[in-house]
Amino acid sequence: MNIKEIYKSKLISCEEALNKIKSGDNIVSALSPAEPREILSKLHTISDKVRDVNIATCLPMADYEYFINHKYKDSFLMEGWFYSPGMRKVHKNKTVSFIPNHLHICASKRLAHRSPNVFLGTASTIDKHGFISLSLSATYEREMIENADLVILEINPNMPRTFGDTIIHISEVDFVVETDYEVPEIPILEPSEKDRIIGKYIAEMVEDGSTIQLGIGGIPNAVAAELMNKKDLGIHTEMFTDGMVDLYEAGVITSKKKTLMPGKMVATFALGTKKLYEFIDDNPAVNILRGSWVNDPYIIGKNYKMVSINTTLEIDLTGQCCSESIGHMQFSGTGGQADTAIGAQNSPGGKSIIALYSTARVKVPNSNERKTISKIVTRLARGAAVSLSRNDVDFVVTEYGVAALRGTSIRDRIERLIGIAHPDFREQLREEAEELMMW
Ligand code: COA
Repeated sequence: MNIKEIYKSKLISCEEALNKIKSGDNIVSALSPAEPREILSKLHTISDKVRDVNIATCLPMADYEYFINHKYKDSFLMEGWFYSPGMRKVHKNKTVSFIPNHLHICASKRLAHRSPNVFLGTASTIDKHGFISLSLSATYEREMIENADLVILEINPNMPRTFGDTIIHISEVDFVVETDYEVPEIPILEPSEKDRIIGKYIAEMVEDGSTIQLGIGGIPNAVAAELMNKKDLGIHTEMFTDGMVDLYEAGVITSKKKTLMPGKMVATFALGTKKLYEFIDDNPAVNILRGSWVNDPYIIGKNYKMVSINTTLEIDLTGQCCSESIGHMQFSGTGGQADTAIGAQNSPGGKSIIALYSTARVKVPNSNERKTISKIVTRLARGAAVSLSRNDVDFVVTEYGVAALRGTSIRDRIERLIGIAHPDFREQLREEAEELMMW
C-alpha cells in the first residue's frame, strides 16, 4: 500500500473512535492545546456503556462534559498533571484528582504506575513520506505512544507542523479521525506597572548571550517585553510563548551563543495565540522535544548562562515556594518549576529566578469582598504544596527588589525576603519570625 492508502485504511469517525474505549481503560490524552478536542468533547456520550475509565491529562483547555458533569463520575475519573480552572471548580465532585510530578519524569513515573491502553492526541496533516507531527507538545506524548496498546490521533490541518520529537510515522498510529477546529489560544494580557518594574529587575540580571526559560503565568510573559534590549539570547524552555516570538522578531533571540543545540529554539510544548502557532509552523529553528530530555536538570545545565524565570503563589521566609496550591486546594501543578530552577543552577553562569508580586488580592471567605495579603509569609498556608524546595531556590524578585538566596542561611533569607516584601507587611513578618525563632 502507498502512503495515501495506508492513511485511508486508518481513517475512522469520531464515533468509531469512541466505540473502541472499554470499561477499565487507562487513557492518556495529549497536553493542553494538543488534546483531541473532538473526541474529548463527546466522551460523555459513551457513559452508559463504560465504567471506571481513567483519563490522565495535563491542563485541559476546555471544560469537557465527562469531568465537569458530576453525573458521569461512575464512568470517568480524570487524573491531571496540571489543574485547569475547570478542574479546580469540580474537584469537590471527586471526578478529578491531581498527579504530583516533576515534568521531566512525569511520563516515566506514570508508566511505572500504569501503562496506557489508549493514547488520544492530535497531529498535523500527513506529508508525502508518511510523517505527521504531534504539533504542540512532546512533553510526555512520545513515551505514551510507545507504550499504548491503541493510538488514536485527530488529524487537523490547523495544527502547526513542528519539528523534533513531534515527528512520527503514520505506521506508529492505529487510527486517525479528521477534524478542522481552530487551535485553542490563551489571551496575552498587557503588562501592568508592577510587571514592568519586576521585568526591569530581571532584565538587569539577564546577560547578553544567555539562554532563557520562561514559565507559565502573567509575570514571565511580561518579562519578555523587558528583554528587548538584549543581544543574542537563546531559548531552552518547557513552554514556548508569544513573548519569545516577539523577541525573535526583534532580533534579540539569535540562538548564536547557545552551547547546547546552537541555532535552535528548544521547547517541550507551545501555548499562546495564533501568532505563535503560525510562527512555529514548519519552522526548523524551533524544535519541540521530549520533556524527559528538555527538562532534565542535567541537560538544562549544559546551556551556559541559563536563566530560568518562573513565578509562585506564596513563599515563606526560608525560601519554600508554593506555586501550585492555595492551602490544600490544588491550583495548577509543579510542572517544570523545580526542573528548570535546578537546571539553571547547574549551568555555568546560570541563574534561577522566582518572580512574584509582593501582595495578592484574595477573596474573603463567605463574602464578595477581597483583601490584600502578603505573598511572602513566615509560614506557608496550611496544606500548601511545596513546588520548589528551599534547598533549590536562588533569586527571588518582587516589585521591591531582588533577594539572592543561593547558599544563604535562614537568618540572611529572613532579612533579604522581608526587604522585598510589601512595606505594609514588613513589621508583621519580622515580629512573627522573631516569635517563631526563625534564625
Ligand atoms: N494566597 C491566596 N491566593 C493567591 C495567592 C496567595 N498567596 N497568590 C495569588 N493568589 C490568587 C490570585 O489572587 C489569583 O486569584 P483570582 O484568579 O481570583 O484573581 C490566583 O491566585 C492566581 O494568581 P496569579 O498571580 O494571577 O497566577 P498566574 O496565572 O500568574 O500563575 C502560578 C501563577 C504560580 C499559579 C503559575 O505560574 C504556576 O502554576 N506555576 C507552577 C508551574 C511552573 O512554574 N512551571 C514552570 C514552567 S511552565
